[in-house]
Amino acid sequence: MSNFGLYEDRVRNFEWSVAEKELEYTDGNVLNIGWYCSDRICLKGKADKTALFYEGFGGIKKQYSFNDIRLAGNTIGNFLRNIGIKNEDRVCLFLDRIPELYFSFLGVLKIGAIVQPLFSAFGDESLFVRLENAQTKAIITQRKHLSKVRKVLERLPNLEFIVIVDHNKTKKLESRELPFSLQESKPVENFEIYPTRAESPSVLHYTSGTTGQPKGVKHVHYSIISQYLTAKWVLDLQEDDIYWCTADPGWVTGTSYGIIGPWSLGITQCVLDAGFSAQAWYKFIEDYRITMWYSAPTAIRSLMKAGEDIVSDFDLSSLRHLASVGEPLNSEAVIWSQKMFGKLFHDTFWQTETGSIMITNFPGMKVKPGSMGKSFPGITGVVLDAKKYEPITEPGQVGLIAFKPGWPAMMRSYWNNEEKYREKFINGWYLTGDRSSIDSEGYFWFVGRDDDVINTGGHLVSPFEVESALLEHPAVGESAVVAKPDEINMEVVKAFITLKPGFNPGPDLELEIMNFIRKKLSPIAMPQSIEYMEKLPKTRSGKIMRRLLHAKEWGEDIGDISTLEND
Ligand code: WT7
Repeated sequence: MSNFGLYEDRVRNFEWSVAEKELEYTDGNVLNIGWYCSDRICLKGKADKTALFYEGFGGIKKQYSFNDIRLAGNTIGNFLRNIGIKNEDRVCLFLDRIPELYFSFLGVLKIGAIVQPLFSAFGDESLFVRLENAQTKAIITQRKHLSKVRKVLERLPNLEFIVIVDHNKTKKLESRELPFSLQESKPVENFEIYPTRAESPSVLHYTSGTTGQPKGVKHVHYSIISQYLTAKWVLDLQEDDIYWCTADPGWVTGTSYGIIGPWSLGITQCVLDAGFSAQAWYKFIEDYRITMWYSAPTAIRSLMKAGEDIVSDFDLSSLRHLASVGEPLNSEAVIWSQKMFGKLFHDTFWQTETGSIMITNFPGMKVKPGSMGKSFPGITGVVLDAKKYEPITEPGQVGLIAFKPGWPAMMRSYWNNEEKYREKFINGWYLTGDRSSIDSEGYFWFVGRDDDVINTGGHLVSPFEVESALLEHPAVGESAVVAKPDEINMEVVKAFITLKPGFNPGPDLELEIMNFIRKKLSPIAMPQSIEYMEKLPKTRSGKIMRRLLHAKEWGEDIGDISTLEND
């Protein structure tokens, strides 16, 4: 155990300046993530090292060096600058996990603009609310997603450019649409990178809450300090690693640890954009000799379900270190991975807002299966009591997970929503909205969220967003949305609805409503089950009691229902 005691060593005398030194960053100087992830790695003599192995649908394979990604970032940045995109303008990336997504991320940052990555499976309504909120100026997308953009364009006066990376010249372009082909563009060798500083905005990720529309989490270039160091220490990335982060950059894991962390370290990473199947995943690990694998509990549970026999069909001996994020990692999954791969999955806990890993099973630390581990060095993590918001000192008591603000990757605000941002802080603590206990050795044991947000397969879904979308269906009178337990995804979306007069309940209508939500919002937000009700349980003031419906789904005690409306 060469790593034994490493965690304690690193906690002692910890300072973020460790990362600043390694990145050769001095306070007040220019700091640009796009440059750090490509140009700097080339300057360090790794221009020819592979930055990206990409595999897409139909077995398409591509490989890019750090010099290739540097040039691609320059070329895209140059194109955007030429059409008039300026620093701090929002540029949305609405792309599948194709190479252009990764290169555009660098290109947008290189011109000092703000990247707004959105999951390409989002439907038109999900897309619209986020583009409207950010007043996005340009969107980079593919032909296959164009119809969704065209549908909402009229309502988005600020959206000046729709850049299509795979334009087919036989097809007609409509207003505001511009073709861009990386292959056909002359690579831009010398490019003037916009001199962003530590506090210049970088990435804007949207995340769902219980009430209201999704919030834009604003990050700054200085976040790289946290992402670099956590990728190095927690993901344990080393020079010869072949790294695979299975997350989509539409979500924060896919940017913090699917782009910035590994590339700022000059690590080779792999991207598989071909959906999930146990065979395909194991084959990918075998083919690329993946050494470090960062994934999510739902994927691990799906692999468990696929069975043990199939594991032995592949050579997975390259795996050296495994980590997981996004939802509770049950102890069965940890034990299973040890048995199957001879390696434990190391749980990590963090959020879109925190920007980097906060609680973790550090390499070399004793892993307690089912626990999320301890606070990352330099992070003060506590649980607060829900009344006074003071740290609970007694081990094993459940409280609200909170952190002392001040780490580099912490969000700087919610976009145009200072009020919601301020609500996240109390008594000098940042509140995560999660509940946990801490044992006598400082290990966190996750209990659940402290709100109604649904975590399905590691993705947060706002019940409010789904309820609002349901009301737009002509048959739906009222709606209430809660989480329903699920073996693989932990939670799935369940909707309770009442129908408007003249509509008949039945499986056809159920299917139609499910599809309606899938198209409008996303496959993730689509209710997996819909229950027709005569009326929904409400408080006397007319508020729908989600809590009651939730308890019913989870077979829990209903609790105090004294405010329930009397019939
Ligand atoms: C929420 C944040 C940044 C990671 C991707 C999700 C839940 C996250 C864990 C974990 C139990 C977890 C929390 C958190 N969560 N990691 N290891 N164990 N729950 O980012 O979409 O902002 O979601 O995911 O509820 O608040 P996100």
